Amino acid sequence: MTVLDQLEQIEREAPGQVQAAASLEEIENIRVAYIGKKGRLTSILRGLKDLSDEEKRQVGGRANAFKARLETLLAERKTSLAEAVSGKAAIDYTLPGRPFRRGHRHLITLVMGEINGIFQRMGFEIAAGPDIEKDYYNFGALNFPPDHPARDEQDTFYVEGDLLLRTHTSNVQIREFEKRTPPFKIIAPGRVFRNEAVSTRSYCVFHQVEGFYVDRRVTFGNLRGVLEAFSDDFFGRGTRLRFRPSFFPFTEPSAEVDVACFLCGGKGCSLCKHEGWLEILGCGMIDPEVFKAVGYDPEEVTGYAFGMGIDRIAMMKYRVNDIRLLYENDLRFIRQFR
Ligand code: DAH
Repeated sequence: MTVLDQLEQIEREAPGQVQAAASLEEIENIRVAYIGKKGRLTSILRGLKDLSDEEKRQVGGRANAFKARLETLLAERKTSLAEAVSGKAAIDYTLPGRPFRRGHRHLITLVMGEINGIFQRMGFEIAAGPDIEKDYYNFGALNFPPDHPARDEQDTFYVEGDLLLRTHTSNVQIREFEKRTPPFKIIAPGRVFRNEAVSTRSYCVFHQVEGFYVDRRVTFGNLRGVLEAFSDDFFGRGTRLRFRPSFFPFTEPSAEVDVACFLCGGKGCSLCKHEGWLEILGCGMIDPEVFKAVGYDPEEVTGYAFGMGIDRIAMMKYRVNDIRLLYENDLRFIRQFR
């Protein structure tokens, strides 16, 4: 067979084969067979230099032209196969791109960051503790007696053995006391868990910030000063605080702190349920029993601690009326806070 015969045969057969190809793999095989490194058309083109002038004239231009045509046919068949598979027209790369939405931080993360910033500017370091915790760190070392109602299964999610999901961030007090030597000033934001009935006001997971300062001669006045500085910054300058006597196993004396309702200024409204005050945290002077548990000498060492609910104050400040909105991840809600 002359080279020209071979070329004519290729010209007759190849287009039909391309049309009949039913997969990208078949198309690729056809390409390799004709114009791959050892393809039939490739070897004709490679052999041109050995032909007579007469044959070169007959075959050269025609073989190159057919190669170009075959490439176009292969590309077209590829596109139409892709369209058949996806059911839509293949991508038009000349269209402008679709912008995609950038994510942003969640309201809780934003408020946590704001709180961290305020305390960091007052010299507090940030620490973290584990969500899955030993009974000892969550309760025992914090002076909860063995029969304390907070240990009840109704409130605490037990994992197994003496492991549980921490019910407050106060576990970080014990963990940091064990690691450090006073003086230190720490805040510890984090997630906590309680097995309570879910409602507009309570959820099985929420967030707290624990704060504590341990040194010689720390006073309740120091505690009050720090909390007032915080509320001036977070709720607005001159916001009044009210300290009510309370009880916690790990502080003595203890107090619960209310902030004057920033919506009505204390006159009474729906936000504060006509009380004029909103409860924001628990606090007190660290109980000597806690210091004893971690091997500090309570005659030498003093300290204060406080714990506040991040979800609660985020909801107050940003007027969110159902805590579940913070956890259901409905973007229509989440996108309102950036
Ligand atoms: N841990 C307490 C709670 O979960 C809050 C608390 C109260 C933390 C008094 C403290 C504190 O550090 O001193 O409700």
